[in-house]
Amino acid sequence: MRPLAFFFKKKYEALLNRIIPTSYYPTRPFNLNEVSMDDLIKQAADDLAAARNVVALTGAGISTESGIPPFRGKGGLWEKFDPMEIAHIDAFMRDPARVWNLLVKDLKETLDTASPNDGHKGLAKLEEMGKLTTVITQNIDGLHQAAGNTDVIEFHGSFAWQRCMDCSQKYETSKVDISEIPPRCSCGGILRPDAVFFGEMIPQDAMWRSRQAASDCDLMLVVGTSAVVQPAALMPVYAKESGAKVVEINPEKTPLTLEISDYLIMGKAGEVMNRIILALESKI
Ligand code: OAD
Repeated sequence: MRPLAFFFKKKYEALLNRIIPTSYYPTRPFNLNEVSMDDLIKQAADDLAAARNVVALTGAGISTESGIPPFRGKGGLWEKFDPMEIAHIDAFMRDPARVWNLLVKDLKETLDTASPNDGHKGLAKLEEMGKLTTVITQNIDGLHQAAGNTDVIEFHGSFAWQRCMDCSQKYETSKVDISEIPPRCSCGGILRPDAVFFGEMIPQDAMWRSRQAASDCDLMLVVGTSAVVQPAALMPVYAKESGAKVVEINPEKTPLTLEISDYLIMGKAGEVMNRIILALESKI
């Protein structure tokens, strides 16, 4: 196990030991290496059919199939950049033009043309089927709303708007002129994404609503997140603590895998969601 993963595993264990006795958990039925994909899809369809209030927690992985790079892992943004140098509020305050040039400009160009993929559409379909109530997303790309989900909590804010650092006026990102960097408000202030930089607080409303949604659900789908950034990664812990099933969809294991999650469906969000929806539709 890599040192970082080990560190987080230990952190989760410590956290769990503090808040929930291990005996609270039902015996987990799955061993990652012993259960076939077909069985996991069937299990997920059964669990969704039985669930009454499904909440999803999503991360960058659900948007990779829309052409948006993730942060960690192969091809991830943090392979190219040190997040503390480029995505920390202090870095932005020190040199907004640098952060705009290295990060925000590219992101704007990518997001201006990105559209939802089968992973987003699958979650929207689950809402249409009356199963899923809320999506808590760490993503700032707006693709869950574009796919049709109506209750989306943007845990790390939104890239749809830029905000003036002086007067707080907001501008629709797609209409912001970036011929001059950093772009400015009509008052002369510098524009920044209306999203959360490292070193900033999670918007209070998003924090409390997410915590509530996680505690109220009876099944949480955790899709495409490495589950290493807090406090977002605590939402599955709150769900578990309240007795919900936690199901991960991710091509890789995470610190939640078989610690918090009941099972991991190892695959890409789009493909897995398509299969789950098909299996669920044949049941109801
Ligand atoms: P990460 O980039 O940390 O993790 C992406 C996860 O998606 C990994 O676990 C991948 O294995 C998985 N993945 C990749 N392709 C996938 C696919 N097609 N289907 C499903 N899963 C796939 O992204 P987040 O967990 O979202 O915060 O990162 C959390 C936060 O860290 C972000 O919101 C951002 C970042 O720094 C801020 O900027 C504040």
